[in-house]
Amino acid sequence: MTQMTQDQMKTQVGQAALRYVQPGQIVGVGTGSTVNKFIAALAGMPEPVAGAVSSSDASSQLLRAAGIPVLDCNRAGELAVYIDGADEIDGRGCMIKGGGAALTREKIVAAQARRFICIADQSKRVQVLGAFALPVEVIPMAFERIRRQFAAMNGQAALRMKEGRPLVTDNGQHILDVRGLRIDDPLAFETEVNQWPGVVTVGVFARQRAHVCLLGTPAGVETLRFD
Ligand code: 5RP
Repeated sequence: MTQMTQDQMKTQVGQAALRYVQPGQIVGVGTGSTVNKFIAALAGMPEPVAGAVSSSDASSQLLRAAGIPVLDCNRAGELAVYIDGADEIDGRGCMIKGGGAALTREKIVAAQARRFICIADQSKRVQVLGAFALPVEVIPMAFERIRRQFAAMNGQAALRMKEGRPLVTDNGQHILDVRGLRIDDPLAFETEVNQWPGVVTVGVFARQRAHVCLLGTPAGVETLRFD
């Protein structure tokens, strides 16, 4: 038997997420390589969705290219579901997100949805959050002090770079990636760091944790429920 690749597992969970989507609905759409598979699956629905609220310019482009209208978040009202990937997910559905630098809009759209359906391959499942460098979107003038605040909790924060310059997010801000953290209490951690002046969004999703995770494994899609 040939081994299933990570890419194939992402395709499987992207397709499996259609179980949570109804024709005619407005769906919240995340960002990343797994979500790209979901967008491809959405595009193939025989009866289409009415539109999507998107969490990034990259996903909006793909959605439009697939013929799916991208709607203004402020006009869309409450969403039934938000579907997105994760960099890490723990046993309670808490996640680290932001590997694709879209964490702020991801948290905004997730907060507008009744259910968060996480789609991820099995490499994302962890016992404790923190092995993946934690993304934090920050106002540029504050990053040096925020870096020192993380150092005081044994975190090593580095500005994310792109083509030799600090990466600029869709919101015009920067990303700090923080290594060396062990996040035993995601809710308390998110609550604290979110209050530091200059932090736009911390990439711990505990308030907006997943209700369900569709986890891609070599044996097929496993459904983890957290609600
Ligand atoms: C983007 C994200 C993504 O959901 C996360 O990085 C997972 O991406 P991928 O599906 O490519 O592994 O948070 O900001």
